[in-house]
Amino acid sequence: MLRVENLFKVYKNRKKNVTETVEAVKDVSFECSPGEIFGLLGPNGAGKTTTLRCISTLIKPTSGNVYIDRYNVLNDEKAIRSRIGFLTSDMKLDGFFTPDYMMDYFGALNKMSKDDIQLRKDYLFNELQMSDFIHKKIDKLSTGMKQKTAIAISLIHDPEVIIFDEPTNGLDVITSKSVTDFLKKYAQAGKTIVISTHIMHVAEKICDRFGILVEGELKEIGSLNDILENNSSDSLEDVFFGYILPGSEGEVSHAQ
Ligand SMILES: Nc1ncnc2c1ncn2[C@@H]1O[C@H](COP(=O)(O)OP(=O)(O)O)[C@@H](O)[C@H]1O
Ligand SMILES: [Mg+2]
Repeated sequence: MLRVENLFKVYKNRKKNVTETVEAVKDVSFECSPGEIFGLLGPNGAGKTTTLRCISTLIKPTSGNVYIDRYNVLNDEKAIRSRIGFLTSDMKLDGFFTPDYMMDYFGALNKMSKDDIQLRKDYLFNELQMSDFIHKKIDKLSTGMKQKTAIAISLIHDPEVIIFDEPTNGLDVITSKSVTDFLKKYAQAGKTIVISTHIMHVAEKICDRFGILVEGELKEIGSLNDILENNSSDSLEDVFFGYILPGSEGEVSHAQ
């Protein structure tokens, strides 16, 4: 079980003697159970990546905490990391190496035995349909192949909790479908999965519950039915746009 509790993140950047503060995440709380896919939805700048980075121990919360079972990100960084597979779009893969080599490398970093690495490679390469390109250099691969490689690497240590930031962003429809099919199957195997996305139909297809994040605040949380009932709406997309374009009924306001 993953539990995010009253998470706040304030960035402070000094620019030419002026300190600029950005309240990126404000009092965000949600839970995700094993077998469940939770979708964090929000426009650009909403605080999705910041929230997922706090969960993954890449940055420290300003206040609040994140728990996985009896561990938390403030006190048990190592235990949390070993339980999490984190995927983010700014992960750079070294183009000189092959997917197969990268899996060996990250498996060894995770102190896995050669046999265990081989078992994980067999499983992930098969599930993600990667067999055709595991011995090709990464800089020769398509965007979709690179993304599958990044996903496989993030899951080498068989983590219980999967945190994927915009996992289908920029992918063609076929690769996107194979990634979402894989995530659904992986959740059914009892994994706890949190993804962020700004693509509503991806979210609707695979997520069991959603949080709508706007300017750092969770405006809605619940199943599709909960959210639609709360808003007397029949479309998640309408609810979403109702928050990010208030009063405009679908039209972007350029006034300011
Ligand atoms: N390292 C940082 N320093 C200062 N501000 C940041 C930093 N990272 C993100 N932000 C700001 O925090 C807010 C949330 O960003 P982010 O979490 O990346 O949103 P999202 O992933 O939903 O697009 C934005 O206003 C962004 O400009
Ligand atoms: Mg982001």
